[in-house]
Order: sequence, then structure tokens, then C-alpha cells
Amino acid sequence: MSHALNQVNTADTISPSSPAAQPEAEFQSTGDISGPEPEAITLARRKIRSESMSEQLSERLAHMKLPQPERLFGPDEGEIIDLDDLDGDDGDAGVAPDAWDKIKLDDEVPESVRTGRMTHSRNASRVDSASISRPPPILEASEQPEKAKPVEAAREQKITPFDVAGEVDAAGKDLGINYDKITAQFGASKISSELLERFEKVTGQRPHPLLRRGTFFSHRDLNTILDRYEQGKPFYLYTGRGPSSDSMHLGHLIPFMFTAWLQRVFNVPLVIQITDDEKYLLERDIKKQAETMKKIKGKKPIDLLRHYQRMATDNIKDIIACGFLLEKTYIFQDTQAMGGTFYQNVVLFAKTVTLNQSKNVFGFGDSDNIGMYHFAAIQACPSFSNSFPQIFGDRTDIPCLIPCAIDQDPYFLLTRDAADKLGYQKPCLVHSKFLPALQGAGTKMSASNENTAIFMTDDAKKIHKKIRSHAFSGGRATQEEHKRLGGDPDVDIAYQYLSFFEDSDEVMEGLARDYRAGTLSTVEMKDTCIKKLQEVVAEFQKNRAEVTDETVKQFQDATRTIDPSPRKTA
Ligand code: TYM
Repeated sequence: MSHALNQVNTADTISPSSPAAQPEAEFQSTGDISGPEPEAITLARRKIRSESMSEQLSERLAHMKLPQPERLFGPDEGEIIDLDDLDGDDGDAGVAPDAWDKIKLDDEVPESVRTGRMTHSRNASRVDSASISRPPPILEASEQPEKAKPVEAAREQKITPFDVAGEVDAAGKDLGINYDKITAQFGASKISSELLERFEKVTGQRPHPLLRRGTFFSHRDLNTILDRYEQGKPFYLYTGRGPSSDSMHLGHLIPFMFTAWLQRVFNVPLVIQITDDEKYLLERDIKKQAETMKKIKGKKPIDLLRHYQRMATDNIKDIIACGFLLEKTYIFQDTQAMGGTFYQNVVLFAKTVTLNQSKNVFGFGDSDNIGMYHFAAIQACPSFSNSFPQIFGDRTDIPCLIPCAIDQDPYFLLTRDAADKLGYQKPCLVHSKFLPALQGAGTKMSASNENTAIFMTDDAKKIHKKIRSHAFSGGRATQEEHKRLGGDPDVDIAYQYLSFFEDSDEVMEGLARDYRAGTLSTVEMKDTCIKKLQEVVAEFQKNRAEVTDETVKQFQDATRTIDPSPRKTA
């Protein structure tokens, strides 16, 4: 990889004929810069013409007989996965622009009356507070329930890197996210209690609470990684972030916190990809994009790209605050780090994936830009060890372990397929469930919809208000009823958040027991959650304040050699 951390060129060296040299006034008229042709951003007239040309091109391509790979090899045992099964019920619909009906938090509306269904944000997810089904908190992974759903799903869940929407029944009720189903559909394996036992035996470490509680619930080839650790053979960790907000939220903390823990357990190198390119390319909501342009006083597409690059820098500081080992961690931002063997791998990967595969896996349509289709190559290639010559030289036989939430798996399904074709090592994965939205466990906390999230920049007061006023409660409508019938911690967001951040299993068991018995009120549960989240966020903010520009540079320094050995030699 070329590791010259070149800053984006801000100098005024654009040729007079290039779009960026157009008078600025021309750029102010449109927020739409997502069209495939550069002309689309200059003049509305030119835009219309270029769009129709693009349609003609699409039309022509549609009539060409492109190769149609029908199947991808699944993860573990060469299991075959039918790609049709990976898609939602609506074919390649992707994210519809009209899914952007923004929600507003209904300030101070009593919980007992906030039972209506809500659609939210780009993810078009729905939450029906009366019908959220959630995993129980303190269970051995082997005991994870295969609870029979009372109702069959009328609309299948959709989990992609861009949409997370749970199942919906015929009456329009949200049935939540069915993690067993998604594991089976993606062809991954559930993390069993035997695997956790092996983890403990091999590493000498009690599994992290997120593993013990089944939050990290599924995997691909985790045994391969344990084998290598046992044998002292090298492997590495790989994870990432697409900067979509200035600050990360609590949900993002989950894979990073967990990865920081894994890095300490294994003492191996870690690479962290910051996909500023992805967030620029994948933003296809014209209205939102126009709003962002207005907010940043942007006039040209590059202003928007720079906006994502700036957020990347902020997010890198957030990530560093999660506590990674500097001497073993390399953080890179795509728009700065692309080149060398990383780019060679991108080229090799790109040839293994057809448009149809990309459509099938990600749900892209004919009007989506070509960068979106190609982006998979860029997220895939950090999975290949020779993308990082400063760590692994030109070795291609060193596998990685990728901790992430299950929404990122489609990228790595393609990657594992490509690895076979390229003679590279398949990445191994551990998948987490989503930290749910404030409004309920039917969807994830998402930076695209600020109303669902607690951000790492929120102060104690804001956290208090968000949880007290907006966190969906599993309590009863009245105190009397709650005392008599008890609450349901499985759908209670305060309890659910605690299950991500409270270390003590005993505390969690006690809270669940008392809530069910009706001796712990909703307000008490919420206040326990508030206290814990305030602690977590305050500690994060303290660490974050210590991260300087110099620290960022050190983590991004690609000229450093990193020791790839999994264990310190005595
Ligand atoms: P991004 O920025 O959407 O999310 C970063 C990581 O956080 C996970 N995540 C969540 N986990 C739990 N609860 C939630 N509510 C929640 N929301 C997001 C994501 O699964 C992810 O692990 N394309 C990626 C960036 C990326 C990446 C990677 C991620 C590049 N390479 C390798 C994981 C592994 C993205 O936009 O993530």
C-alpha cells in the first residue's frame, strides 16, 4: 500500500474546463450531486441531459448478456447460499427516497400512550412498542432461545449495511430483528457455549460480557483464529467505521470496545478502516445531501467529500479513545491511504464480483452510482494481509478476525468468496447484535437518525433527558399495574442498554428479577441505566480529551513496522 498520508489537495489547481472551475453561483442552485456524471452538478439543464444519457447507457447495459453468478460459497463448510435469500422481499429496491419520513421525538408524551408505530430515517425501520421482541440478557450462548414467534412475519426483515428493519406481521406490527434467521440466511454459525469454553481454555480469559450474554452471537471460522492463537501463528484484527456523524454513538462503541478487549487478549495487530469514501458515495438521499451542503455552506461536490473527511478525523479520535494499543494498531482513512498493494488487491477483488452479485447482495439499483457498486472492493481488501506490507510484508496467508455488527456481513460474504478465487485467506468474523434505538428494539441506534441515538458527545443532562423521556419502557401503564403484573425487561430499552454496558451478571440478573416482580419501577430502571451510561460516556469523554492531533498521526503512521506475532515472546 502506498502509505503517503497525503492531505487532500485544497490548492486551487483545477483546470478551467473542469466542473469545479465553474462559477460558484452555478453550484448553489442544486443540492443534487449524486448523479453519476460530473456534469450533473453544474447546471440543471446539463443535469437533465446527462441523466437521460445515463438512462440510455443503463438500457444498453441491461440488454447485454452479463455473466450471472448465481451462488456464492457460504462461510464455513462450503455451504451454498442462494443469493435470492439474502435479499429483502422487494428485490433490489434498496432504500427508497420516500423512506425519509423523519421522526421527531414526542417530547414528554407519557410512555403509556406512545405505542404507535414509527417509521424512521433512511433505514425505514419501524418500531411498535407493543410488540418488540428482544433477547434475554443473561444467558449462556448455548441457552440463547429459539423462541417461537407468536405470529408469522408478513414482511421479512431486511438487514443490509444500509437498512436495518425487523420483521413485520400482517397487522403491521414490528416483530423485531430475528437474529437466528439472519444467521441462517447469511450462512454464519451461532456462537455456542462449547466455542466459548474453548475460547476461555485457549486464551485463559473469561469471555467478555458481550460474549457471555450472546450480544456477539454469531461467527465465521472463529475456531480457525483460536487454532492459530494456540499454535502461536500470526493473525490480525480488522474493523472499521464509516463517518456519518461528527460523533460516534453508543452503538458504535460496541464493536470498538469489544475489539479493544480482543486486541489485549490476543495481543495482535489491528487495522481500522475509516471509509470516508463510502459515506460520500452511499449518501443517496438528495434532500439530506442538500441539507448537509447548506449546513456546511458547500458549493461543490468536493466540499461534501471534505465534510466526510473532517468527520473521519473526529471519528478517529473517538475510536482511539476506546483504548487500542498504539504499537499494534494502524488506522487509515480510505481517501488518503489508497494505493500500493491495497489498491492491487482492490483491482483483483473487483474482477471477482459482477454487477449482478453486487445488486443481489446490496440491493443497489440501476440509478445508483458506480462508486457504490465498487465500494465493496474497498471494504473487502483490508481482509487480505498483503494490503499491509508494513506489518505482513508480502504474505497472503495470514487471516484476520473481523468484529462488527451483523449488518456488515454482506461485505465479507463477498470477500470470503473472492478470497477463494484469489488464493487468499478468508476473513473470520464475530457478529454482534445491534444496540437498539431509544424508541425500541425493533431497529438499531443509528447516526442517520439522531433521534434514535445517544451520542458520545452528549452530556449527563442530555443522557438523563433522552432516557427518561424517550427510552421505550417495558413497564406497565400505571404504577399500580406495574406492581401487580411486573414489567418486561426484554423489551425495556433502559435494561437492554444496561446489558451492553454493565459488567456484573449478578446486577443484571437482580434487575431483571425485580422488574419482572414489579418491585423495581420503570423510573428506577431508567435511573440505573442513566447512571451507567453517564459513567461510560464520561470516561469516554475523558479519554477522548486526551487524544491529540499528534496521537492521531501516530496511529495513522503507515511507515511504522508492527510486530505481527500474536503473543509477546518471553
Ligand atoms: P458504521 O460506521 O456504520 O458502523 C461502525 C461499526 O459499528 C457497528 N454498528 C453497531 N453496532 C451495534 N449497535 C448499533 N446500533 C450499531 N450501529 C453500527 C457496525 O456494524 C460497524 O461494525 N462500512 C462500515 C465501515 C467499515 C467496517 C469495516 C465495519 C469499513 N470496514 C470492517 C466493520 C468491519 C460502516 O459504515 O460502519
